[in-house]
Amino acid sequence: MPRLIIDCDPGHDDAIALILAHRHADVVGITAVSGNAPLAATTANALMVTALLDVDTPVVSGAAKPLVGEPIHAAAVHGETGLGGVDRIAHERSTAGDDAVAFLLDNAEPDIVVVAVGPLTNLALAIDRDPSWGKRIAGISIMGGSTDVGNVTRVAEFNIFADAEAAARVFESGAEITMCGLNLTHQFQTSDPLTERLRQSGTAKATFAAQIFDYLHDRMETLIGRRASAMHDPCAVLAITHPHLLRAEPRAVAVELRGALTRGMTVVDQRVSRRRDQANANVAYGIDAERAWEVVMESLDAREST
Ligand code: RIB
Ligand code: CA
Repeated sequence: MPRLIIDCDPGHDDAIALILAHRHADVVGITAVSGNAPLAATTANALMVTALLDVDTPVVSGAAKPLVGEPIHAAAVHGETGLGGVDRIAHERSTAGDDAVAFLLDNAEPDIVVVAVGPLTNLALAIDRDPSWGKRIAGISIMGGSTDVGNVTRVAEFNIFADAEAAARVFESGAEITMCGLNLTHQFQTSDPLTERLRQSGTAKATFAAQIFDYLHDRMETLIGRRASAMHDPCAVLAITHPHLLRAEPRAVAVELRGALTRGMTVVDQRVSRRRDQANANVAYGIDAERAWEVVMESLDAREST
């Protein structure tokens, strides 16, 4: 089983990614970062997911703001708590600390993959503290960026836009990076029939996920007129646990920091191969969504009835 550290900002899709990761990997730890909601909320949500799963995975909180400027959040999608519409699970758990950077550095080993599904602030601070960090781990699987459309702006995706300086540091770190951007995750959409399968299962995990899907569908119906939501963060887990379900190509990726219209854009070199710059990431372009959904639904106790 892959050994993972999940750096996240739960966040509805982060929560599904955490459940999926615990089903198919050895999750060494969870580090929380400000993103979808403020740090206190994302940390509390990560702890709550470990209570749902009844696992002893340590949760360590990290950066409360980006390297530059003030934090941005995504309450319109995830609610003020970061997990709107989901029943809170009572528990007595507490975090294993508040220094996510130290946790990332102390647990850097050649077989560890960091799955980063929120703004990349914690990772950039780890690189600042130890520039060799990116090469002391097996790699980084990022949900972030895009080879085409953005979601916060026309061209910038939330995790990158929320801390563009941090993202630039990570892409320049020399780490073995897989990038699962919106161009990929938009191919991996929830649906009401999937929610119905979760409700029919009725286990605690399935019911938790059904509430997540229902809430996202209600929000997307309001925001974009469609009862479907890209299940972004699990894609970055599948890239490591089920790489055969994704198609990725080596590409040079840089993060725009200064453009008035393009700040936070992942600028991907998609020219013909002979003209391209040296690749620094494996960029995912395709996913076998049908098979990927079966993997995710099984992890949520809602395997398709044969
Ligand atoms: O743009 C999608 C990303 O931003 C996902 O990680 C989601 O959880 C939010 O953090
Ligand atoms: Ca996220």
